[in-house]
Amino acid sequence: MEKVKLAHDLSFSRIIHGLWRLAEWNMNPQEIVAMTEQCIELGITTFDHADIYGDYTCESLFGEALKLKPSLRESIQIVTKCGIKLRSSKYPEHEVKHYDTSKEHIIKSVNQSLKNLQTDYIDVLLIHRPDPFMDPEETAEAFSQLKREGKVRHFGVSNFTPSQFNMLNSYLEEPLVTNQVEISAVHLDAFHDGTIDQCLEKRIPPMAWSPLAGGRIFTSEGEKIERVRHVLEEVGKELGVRSPDQLLYAWLLIHPARIMPIVGSGKMERIKHAVKAMEIQMTRQQWFKIWIASIGQDVA
Ligand SMILES: NC(=O)c1ccc[n+]([C@@H]2O[C@H](COP(=O)([O-])OP(=O)(O)OC[C@H]3O[C@@H](n4cnc5c(N)ncnc54)[C@H](OP(=O)(O)O)[C@@H]3O)[C@@H](O)[C@H]2O)c1
Repeated sequence: MEKVKLAHDLSFSRIIHGLWRLAEWNMNPQEIVAMTEQCIELGITTFDHADIYGDYTCESLFGEALKLKPSLRESIQIVTKCGIKLRSSKYPEHEVKHYDTSKEHIIKSVNQSLKNLQTDYIDVLLIHRPDPFMDPEETAEAFSQLKREGKVRHFGVSNFTPSQFNMLNSYLEEPLVTNQVEISAVHLDAFHDGTIDQCLEKRIPPMAWSPLAGGRIFTSEGEKIERVRHVLEEVGKELGVRSPDQLLYAWLLIHPARIMPIVGSGKMERIKHAVKAMEIQMTRQQWFKIWIASIGQDVA
């Protein structure tokens, strides 16, 4: 599996496993160990979490697995996020869902994530969403402290616009290493709003969430989805690839921005499909057929 370098001492696997839905998979710690080991065998070594996933439960489920097999830790990179406060029975003081990027909250959240994940360090901490009330000096202080304490190795953001990314970056001692955004053949915003341009300019590989549009590509109605589904069939026939999910991964993987798709399934067959997609040689015209189906018109 190709490795993607994010910093002099940090590389991710090109395909990442996302654990947002882990609580829905009803796995016990042994099963989570087995799934993680199989991912590592396939070359997937980077795992994406957030404090809030599964109503604040997914990190702990993964942590139980790491406790069972501590040697896994040195083979993997853990990404987690902070900055969203959900309404939850676990936090009755959250009257409304809101964002908090204060120094106090970031440090508290990381300490909790370390405890949940049963690890001493997080490879990359992301600020989950841009916070309209962010004080970047405070956020930067939190990052510096966590780095000094050895609790977090590197920092990034998620769902930030290029200007939000630049703004926070300008306050930091070390540059942000990634922006995790929604990218798929049915969700092209990152190509239009400057996010991909910025990643290319700064040589920062983006992480792509919902690379299969959260599964909607298989189930949803709607003109755009139908058009993309239809063209995937057509391109699939040309390439001899029968699984539309593989074509959606390949569409991201062949892009020059070194997009790292985050696979959201817990089913091994589907995870293997993502890895196999790295072998697909899609032509520029096939890439554009899918683009054209998504935008619903020829390019200008
Ligand atoms: N930063 C953010 O704001 C943010 C937001 C959302 C997600 N994320 C991250 O991105 C990761 C991936 O997101 P995602 O889960 O939305 O990714 P996704 O891969 O676009 O969607 C996964 C969904 O698609 C379904 N699926 C996959 N293959 C299928 C197939 N062949 N047929 C039918 N259904 C299929 C899966 O069902 P099965 O489980 O049954 O396979 C699952 O429900 C998350 O785990 C999380 O780590 C980040």
